[in-house]
Amino acid sequence: MIKNFQGKTAVLTGAGSGFGLECARIGASLGMNLVLADVQQEALDKAAAEFAGQGVRVLAQRVDVSDAGQMQALADAVRQQFGAPHFVFNNAGVGAGGLVWENTVADWQWVLGVNLWGVIHGVRLFTPMMLEAAKADPSFEGHIVNTASMAGLLAPPNMGIYNVSKHAVVSLTETLYQDLALVSDQISASVLCPFFVPTGISHSERNRPAHLAAQPLTASQKIGQAMSEKAVGSGKVTAADVARKVFDAMAANQFYIYSHPQALGSVQTRMEDVVQGRNPTDPFAHKPELGASLKASLRAA
Ligand SMILES: NC(=O)c1ccc[n+]([C@@H]2O[C@H](COP(=O)([O-])OP(=O)(O)OC[C@H]3O[C@@H](n4cnc5c(N)ncnc54)[C@H](O)[C@@H]3O)[C@@H](O)[C@H]2O)c1
Repeated sequence: MIKNFQGKTAVLTGAGSGFGLECARIGASLGMNLVLADVQQEALDKAAAEFAGQGVRVLAQRVDVSDAGQMQALADAVRQQFGAPHFVFNNAGVGAGGLVWENTVADWQWVLGVNLWGVIHGVRLFTPMMLEAAKADPSFEGHIVNTASMAGLLAPPNMGIYNVSKHAVVSLTETLYQDLALVSDQISASVLCPFFVPTGISHSERNRPAHLAAQPLTASQKIGQAMSEKAVGSGKVTAADVARKVFDAMAANQFYIYSHPQALGSVQTRMEDVVQGRNPTDPFAHKPELGASLKASLRAA
């Protein structure tokens, strides 16, 4: 829980675009110091210039969150320039689709590297720093927000690689919340579970490193890409709306942060499947024409 953000430090990964950038904007408006981390140098430079122009103390560092050494260097720089951060937003992420057996080793390494290992490194490096600061100062307040997805609470078909990474982030963050509560009342955690929101996420390939290059896309991966572009592009809730919810949740110590609470019916159905030992419900039960068209295109491929 953080009640007063003025003069506090925020570390944001994926800060060059989407939710990361919008949270940085709110942080700046509240008088926070900003540590911006992103793999995309141009986006990072643009964001850093925007905030420096507002008189915000900014550290912008090009970081691949999947890389332990680069994350360590980020943590060292944060400690040196600002001391322990108060708000850590482990948010950088990439999307990928396709039938779960069609993903290559490089696909798995890339998506799990960014979406899961990025969060692991952020938690592993910044939590001890925050706990140390909390011990030294009873007024220290800290909050870690990890970005998962509704895909971390559901198992939508033809995007298994992404679902796996996001389920892991939900589990990691629920455990982090419980573990923190065992040792401190000054630091807590939340998990952000957005549904479809227009950002750069459906163009994640722009940041894929050469050493994990994609093979030519399979038919199911192409279909997944087209469906994701359509769903993300037609989202009505904005990244700025979601960023506002992140700050409200930190102030209220609310754990689950949803962009579209109305989509939780599907989570309830999944939970009932689990508890009742029922086979997984058809995810297209409410949109049978979409399910039929996906089946038809995959079977024709
Ligand atoms: N937009 C949605 O519909 C949606 C839905 C659910 C979850 N999410 C999650 O939200 C998070 C933020 O994504 P977004 O929607 O704002 O997309 P975005 O593409 O606009 O922003 C993601 C940022 O992460 C950066 N990034 C990618 N790989 C990186 C790496 N290896 N190291 C450091 N930075 C890296 C990108 O350069 C980009 O600036 C992601 O974890 C994503 O999975 C998005």
